[in-house]
Amino acid sequence: MKQAPVGRLTAFLSLPLLLVLLYSTGAHAHNITRILAKHPEFSTFNHYLTLTHLASDINRRLTITVLAVDNAAMSSLLSKHLSLYTIKNVLSLHILVDYFGSKKLHQITNGTALTATIFQATGAAPGSTGYVNITDLKGGKVGFGAENNGGSLDAVYVKSVDEIPYNISVLQISQVLTSAEAEAPTPGPSQLNLTVILSKQGCKAFADLLVSSGADATFEQNIDGGLTVFCPTDTVINSFMPKYKNLTAPQKVSLLLYHGIPVYQSTQMLKSNNGIMNTLATDGANKYDFTVQNDGEVVTLKTKVVTAKITGTLKDEEPLVVYKIDKVLLPRELFKVAAKATAPAPAPKAKAAKASSTEADAPEADTVGDQTAEKSGAGGLDGGRLIMVFLSFCMGLLLL
Ligand SMILES: *[C@@H]1O[C@H](CO)[C@@H](O)[C@H](O)[C@H]1NC(C)=O
Ligand SMILES: *[C@@H]1O[C@H](CO)[C@@H](O)[C@H](O)[C@H]1NC(C)=O
Ligand SMILES: *[C@@H]1O[C@H](CO)[C@@H](O)[C@H](O)[C@H]1NC(C)=O
Ligand SMILES: *[C@@H]1O[C@H](CO)[C@@H](O)[C@H](O)[C@H]1NC(C)=O
Ligand SMILES: *[C@@H]1O[C@H](CO)[C@@H](O)[C@H](O)[C@H]1NC(C)=O
Ligand SMILES: *[C@@H]1O[C@H](CO)[C@@H](O)[C@H](O)[C@H]1NC(C)=O
Repeated sequence: MKQAPVGRLTAFLSLPLLLVLLYSTGAHAHNITRILAKHPEFSTFNHYLTLTHLASDINRRLTITVLAVDNAAMSSLLSKHLSLYTIKNVLSLHILVDYFGSKKLHQITNGTALTATIFQATGAAPGSTGYVNITDLKGGKVGFGAENNGGSLDAVYVKSVDEIPYNISVLQISQVLTSAEAEAPTPGPSQLNLTVILSKQGCKAFADLLVSSGADATFEQNIDGGLTVFCPTDTVINSFMPKYKNLTAPQKVSLLLYHGIPVYQSTQMLKSNNGIMNTLATDGANKYDFTVQNDGEVVTLKTKVVTAKITGTLKDEEPLVVYKIDKVLLPRELFKVAAKATAPAPAPKAKAAKASSTEADAPEADTVGDQTAEKSGAGGLDGGRLIMVFLSFCMGLLLL
């Protein structure tokens, strides 16, 4: 008898949670691997979308069209013996960053259009290449061709494979689009020279430190398996130099390795995976970790010593992503915790950092209204979910 109120209370408390969970799973975005798995004639194409990491790129985006080719068309591409990274470029030309359902395809204004692709969007395509020409042809046909292919439309529309209106459309085309630019030999990520990439884009000072300390080798070794780099910009590094020079050689390396995470984390992943991150400097008891936390639209990185903000993306091409940050990340293993060093309100700051490490993935009220919440899904409590919580709260009251 005495148990009853407790049971009811549990039901009351778990109901909102249950509804939130149901609502979240309902809002899951598309999964191209799963869509294509239902059609064995696209198994090779599907396999290569996974191998090249393009599948996760497709799943992250909304309003997208995938031009799929069957296994026979894929064999003729594979017979060219291109490297995996070149195949990635070729396939990324088949992913249009716009929605073309079969209906829209046959009703293109003026009968012809140029549309951008992921090949163009990732910056891998030189100049204006990376656009696909879609043209209505006589007899109800629709032709497709890479823009820089001398005006030849080498593939035609075959059929619609799957359409989730305005989210993703998968259309079969007759063959792989020909493009000399996409088929040009591409260096693989392990052949990418990180320090060269950094030097060209406002992170030269950081790149120079990586080279002079020898830490660059560790960064390079991690690219293939996935790497996220946080680069303090040149002005930030320059004003930090007096403190840097004070460190011993191994401390310098640790500080620099502290600016890398050995996994690929897109902005959306960072926004939805708040919490503690291990870094390249983490080594058992020497934790060298920090906490990722959203601050409205901005992603912050909190060490126990400083809080840095991500101010821009320098390069995002899975498996490598490089962000610019506005402060040098100071690990508590090397620098004094903020308590005495900074005069204004040190106590609450330290407390907030502590709280964030334990409550990091609990959604907070201030993420309401975050415009990316609906895109990141798990990111926070959006308006809809808030209403559900409120409704279930009311239902809970009725039950009591
Ligand atoms: C389209 O994507 C959004 C965001 O992921 C999702 O909320 C919506 O349900 C999707 N639409 C369909 C028809 O699945
Ligand atoms: C997509 O579906 C495939 C196959 O069902 C599964 O292995 C993969 O984990 C899914 N990806 C996501 C992001 O859910
Ligand atoms: C269609 O053609 C007309 C006349 O040439 C032009 O003004 C208009 O911008 C075109 N529309 C599109 C969507 O290309
Ligand atoms: C697409 O290609 C066709 C055939 O070469 C050409 O006539 C048309 O002008 C092209 N469309 C655009 C928008 O460039
Ligand atoms: C990257 O380029 C720099 C400068 O050209 C060179 O010193 C360094 O050895 C290169 N690193 C790798 C891993 O190729
Ligand atoms: C360098 O280290 C010395 C000794 O620990 C300290 O007194 C000095 O303030 C440090 N300088 C900087 C710029 O941190």
